[in-house]
Amino acid sequence: MSLAQEDRSAPAGPEVVLEARGVRKVFKTFERAPGLLGVLKNFVARDHVEIAALTGVDLRVERGESVGLIGANGAGKTTLVKILAGIVPASAGEARLLGRDSFHLQDAEKRRLALVMGQKSQLWWDLPAIDSFQLLKEIYGVSDAHFNERLTRFAALLEVEDRLKIQLRQLSLGQRMKMEIIGAFLHSPEVVFLDEPTIGLDLISRETIRRFLIRLADERSVTFVLTSHDMEDIEETCRRIVVLDQGAVAFDGGLMDLSRRVTGQRAVEVHVNPHSSVDEAAVKAELARHGAELAGRSAGSLTVIVGAERLAELVPRLFAVLDVRDLSVERQPLEHLIREIYRRGAAGAAGGAE
Ligand SMILES: Nc1ncnc2c1ncn2[C@@H]1O[C@H](COP(=O)(O)OP(=O)(O)O)[C@@H](O)[C@H]1O
Ligand SMILES: [Mg+2]
Repeated sequence: MSLAQEDRSAPAGPEVVLEARGVRKVFKTFERAPGLLGVLKNFVARDHVEIAALTGVDLRVERGESVGLIGANGAGKTTLVKILAGIVPASAGEARLLGRDSFHLQDAEKRRLALVMGQKSQLWWDLPAIDSFQLLKEIYGVSDAHFNERLTRFAALLEVEDRLKIQLRQLSLGQRMKMEIIGAFLHSPEVVFLDEPTIGLDLISRETIRRFLIRLADERSVTFVLTSHDMEDIEETCRRIVVLDQGAVAFDGGLMDLSRRVTGQRAVEVHVNPHSSVDEAAVKAELARHGAELAGRSAGSLTVIVGAERLAELVPRLFAVLDVRDLSVERQPLEHLIREIYRRGAAGAAGGAE
């Protein structure tokens, strides 16, 4: 009996460090008609436009998880990160970080999180990184010993030891981002948000940053939320993947589940004679016969998504029904994948992810 009692007093399961429940975000903006007339019209009556950036997001992240947040441009990734980190409030629903309402974090919780945004510098542009780090050390009350140990190690891992005394603005984009990351980790945060940290970076810098993140995630029980529109970043650093599409979670599960879905699909890009007429109904009927579908259409080209196993039967038919100039086959690009998952999401993709 004493065993059962001990069980009851044991910690109740893993700790949830991030939570979103029915989070919605609506941005209100003013739309203006183009040109002078627009300016005048705008002066008289401003047309009010509402953009639903998040339409009801549910998410629970446990301590130590590394979550990759992916989705097309405008899917709501940055908005979700900002809400979870307490930078902007949700319009509806609940967002919590370390057990507290994200938008009402106390200093105690703020000290336990870090946020790195690829598009925005948190460091002082005119100072050498080392000076910014000294300031952060004071702000966060990091001891000399911890500061020295962490800075030395992080700078070595990110290969910027010899750049610490150079004014931030004089560094390359990759070096600057590495400094941002060092700055974010100096106070040993428990929850780290990285929003597009590798955007625009060269391959070597990206790989160095990935290695750094993997290393830190392994060593400590840091919880990561990493957004990227680069699938490779996510594949390498995150075990769990959340796909956002048009403000909703379209997929939440392991990388394996996701890649099983990607690898089964091919995107066929067909370039047609721009002067030929395309009988769209006939093309669609043909595609339907092979379980394929039209995913995109522009002047002179069509993008078709088809199951890998039916590619061989489809391609000759494309030549038969279209005036084909050129044709290329690729694994399904991310945006199509996301749309696909989203379409099927309600039916079971999101639910079947566990
Ligand atoms: N401050 C804002 N004002 C108005 N609309 C916004 C604002 N921030 C984001 N949005 C809109 O919300 C949607 C989601 O944006 P965002 O979260 O930045 O997407 P992502 O990071 O996935 O590219 C987009 O349609 C975007 O235009
Ligand atoms: Mg973004």
